[in-house]
Amino acid sequence: MIILGINETSHDASVSLIKNEKILFAGHAERYSKKKNDWYVNDNLIQDALQYGKPDYVAYYEKPLLKRSRLFFSGGLGDWLPKFKIDNIPRKSFKHHYSHACAGYFTSKFNDAAIVVLDAIGEYNTSTIWVGESEKIKLRYKQNYPVSFGLFYSAFTQLIGLMPNQEEYIMMGMAAYGDWTRYYKQVDKYFPKYNKQKYNFHKGINDWGMQITEQDRFDIAAAVQVVYEQRLNDFMCMAYNLTGKENLVFMGGCALNSSANTLLWNIFSDVWIMPNPGDAGSSLGAAAALYGKHIEWKDPYLGHDLGGEYPVDKIIDGILKNGIVAVATGRAEYGPRALGNRSILADPRDPNIKNKVNLIKEREIFRPFAPVVMEEYANKWFDMNFNSPYMQYTVKCLQPEKIPSVVHADGTSRVQTVNKDQHLGLWTVLEKFYKITGIPVLLNTSLNIKGQPLLNDKNDIFLWEKKYNNNIIR
Ligand SMILES: [Fe+2]
Repeated sequence: MIILGINETSHDASVSLIKNEKILFAGHAERYSKKKNDWYVNDNLIQDALQYGKPDYVAYYEKPLLKRSRLFFSGGLGDWLPKFKIDNIPRKSFKHHYSHACAGYFTSKFNDAAIVVLDAIGEYNTSTIWVGESEKIKLRYKQNYPVSFGLFYSAFTQLIGLMPNQEEYIMMGMAAYGDWTRYYKQVDKYFPKYNKQKYNFHKGINDWGMQITEQDRFDIAAAVQVVYEQRLNDFMCMAYNLTGKENLVFMGGCALNSSANTLLWNIFSDVWIMPNPGDAGSSLGAAAALYGKHIEWKDPYLGHDLGGEYPVDKIIDGILKNGIVAVATGRAEYGPRALGNRSILADPRDPNIKNKVNLIKEREIFRPFAPVVMEEYANKWFDMNFNSPYMQYTVKCLQPEKIPSVVHADGTSRVQTVNKDQHLGLWTVLEKFYKITGIPVLLNTSLNIKGQPLLNDKNDIFLWEKKYNNNIIR
């Protein structure tokens, strides 16, 4: 049975194709349309998916009419009507939070887990807890609009002058530069309990009442991050007690908050966050929901295929010579992080590299960069007793003086660990770099310009090389 999963009318449309338990393809609309956070799928994306097989069913990631009724109730922000056209194939829709839950649980190795979904809003659900046992997923707790972890975070993202539903990750990065104590009391009043908020955040914060200076933006971000982490901790402890499970699957846009995710390891014995936990991961979730069983998760390299062997020696030569290389090869990552196939890799020892890469990417100068480290050395370089193959956790760096370009202002790093099975090519690059320098770490950031999607295909490479006059290794 071949199933085409689709999500659109949200802030990050995507398509997935599975054949029974095998994932054949999963890709983001924005990488084909070149519109960041594109809401709708496009023909090029669907054609790329369909070369792997002709679907018997289409699975859609939410219930359009239910969403329509909520949009009416909440004042009409958003869209609900899917626009994709695939004729003569039966289709089935699943609830928004159920698609998230299936994307997480059915890609996990668990046969027994608590599943927590936190996002801005689905149709009506904003926070749900499910129990996964064998191939069954059952709802145990729900919290509905307008109380919402995601809307709280997005409203403050907007308050400090960033784009809600898009630039939450920038606010998370700004938090490290702020003094959280300055605005903690004010922010805490907006979200005093995990099931209680001051008002509906859907239309933003309307009673802040103070001028916001440049420093305030960072201090507010820090306070929001602290309050968010405290409420998340409360919610996760409740989920642990309610379900009695030791394994956690965490999904929804809130699971992209890598600074907060680290606390999950204090509550649960094992944690799985699918590398694409936001709505873009729900095309795979809907397909898995229709299949109704676990699917085989190998790695996130599921998108457009550029082909080619991993160019290990060219990467090493480039880094040793210039300090920075751009790499585009093989299949594109499914998820927001570049994990080696559409990446800029750089020497983490050079403190000036951070500024150079920020200039290439046209990003704000405060923005941090992440390290990729050989899994076997991860706990010598970072304070962690778990692996992080998809850059989902932020932890303290133990040797910041040796790798200054991948350490944030608060001494932490958002780590990607890699082993031979996950990505042999990238692991071999790190091993060679380690043998030469004694450092098993490289800087790894996405191959894109700020505000633009990751590079995807040959034409993107051609345009980049022409515009910036530098070669991309492939
Ligand atoms: Fe969602």
